[in-house]
Amino acid sequence: MKQKLNSITSKAKLVSQVMYDNPHIEERPTDVILHVEHLKMYFKINTGWFRSKPLKAVDDVTFDIHRGETLGLVGESGCGKTTLGRTILHLYKPTSGTIVFNGEEILGKESLRHFRQRSQIVFQDPYSSLDPRMTVEDIIAEPMDIHKSYKNKEERHARVLELMRMVGMSPEQATRYAHEFSGGQRQRIGIARALALNPEFVVCDEPVSALDVSIQAQVINKFAELQEKLGLTYIFVTHNLLVVKHIADRIAVMYLGHIVELAETEELFEHTMHPYTLSLLSAIPVPDPDIAKTHKRIIPEGDIPSPLNAPSGCPFRTRCPKATAECAKTLPPLKELKPGHFVACYHPETNKSGIALLTALGGKKHAKK
Ligand SMILES: Nc1ncnc2c1ncn2[C@@H]1O[C@H](COP(=O)(O)OP(=O)(O)OP(=O)(O)O)[C@@H](O)[C@H]1O
Ligand code: SF4
Ligand SMILES: [Mg+2]
Repeated sequence: MKQKLNSITSKAKLVSQVMYDNPHIEERPTDVILHVEHLKMYFKINTGWFRSKPLKAVDDVTFDIHRGETLGLVGESGCGKTTLGRTILHLYKPTSGTIVFNGEEILGKESLRHFRQRSQIVFQDPYSSLDPRMTVEDIIAEPMDIHKSYKNKEERHARVLELMRMVGMSPEQATRYAHEFSGGQRQRIGIARALALNPEFVVCDEPVSALDVSIQAQVINKFAELQEKLGLTYIFVTHNLLVVKHIADRIAVMYLGHIVELAETEELFEHTMHPYTLSLLSAIPVPDPDIAKTHKRIIPEGDIPSPLNAPSGCPFRTRCPKATAECAKTLPPLKELKPGHFVACYHPETNKSGIALLTALGGKKHAKK
């Protein structure tokens, strides 16, 4: 997956540069499958008698996803990863912002219907996301039923069997019920259902977190194999930085509804710039005892603030070891400090090298070119 992207990413860097200079949607290059601009998702929270407050789960997020890539989305629990994925897919109605898919802004029923056919989601929990009373065949065919994408029963059945083969299931399992399967097998059913309408873009929301470690690798490899075969583009949401390091071409780090750092995977591990990303990476257990001895954990002070009462200025300032008075004044904008490396921080780290950490975790010594 990563090798395939080597040629795409250098082009994509140019593309993103062009895009940020160019506000005209119709002139956007086609390599960018999805463009998200100033996206906000605020939940209205009742705070007492006829009073409410906005919970800013996603707050002014702008980024692109390039065709055929996997964008990893990481951050602590509650930072807004799921909400961002669901808002992009319009499972939540965005509070404001623009989403452009294949050069077309999603606006109005027709573009939304088209986008819904071309995009899908794989959920975290394979136990609650599949109806235990439905057969595997009916679960997988559900999106096809909704969009009436087959001519007759035979065509529906043939497509279900094709999808089951794709995800490594045997045809005789089609008549069985979801509750008869293990977690890993259920997740395969979820993937087959997500692929039923030939999507181009899939949001995978913690798709392996509920699975045994031994099964996780199999399912991750299945995602990679299907991407290669079908040219899929993924947003891969996870808590697990080792998983994301394995699967993602680029990584976006979220904190309190904001993207605070975004870069190619090796670049993010080797030249981490945001203090929050540094603390996340420093928490990864290092298997090599020699490197572990020199590996310093950076633990942010205190708890994550509630998104209902986010701090002024930089959202990380209440826990950041580098915070200054400037950080409390205004929100640091997400800036491209190196080609393809975006950071939202007034005092980004520029000297720390994470090469030793990357090597200890089995990564490459040098960023891919
Ligand atoms: N439907 C909702 N109504 C109100 N608040 C919500 C809703 N969904 C999420 N939130 C809040 O929005 C914030 C972001 O939640 P979200 O589920 O997107 O985080 P996350 O990064 O996916 O967390 P996790 O890693 O635990 O899955 C949290 O404060 C959460 O409580
Ligand atoms: S802007 Fe300031 S508070 Fe925020 S991460 Fe950077 S140094 Fe820390
Ligand atoms: Mg989540």
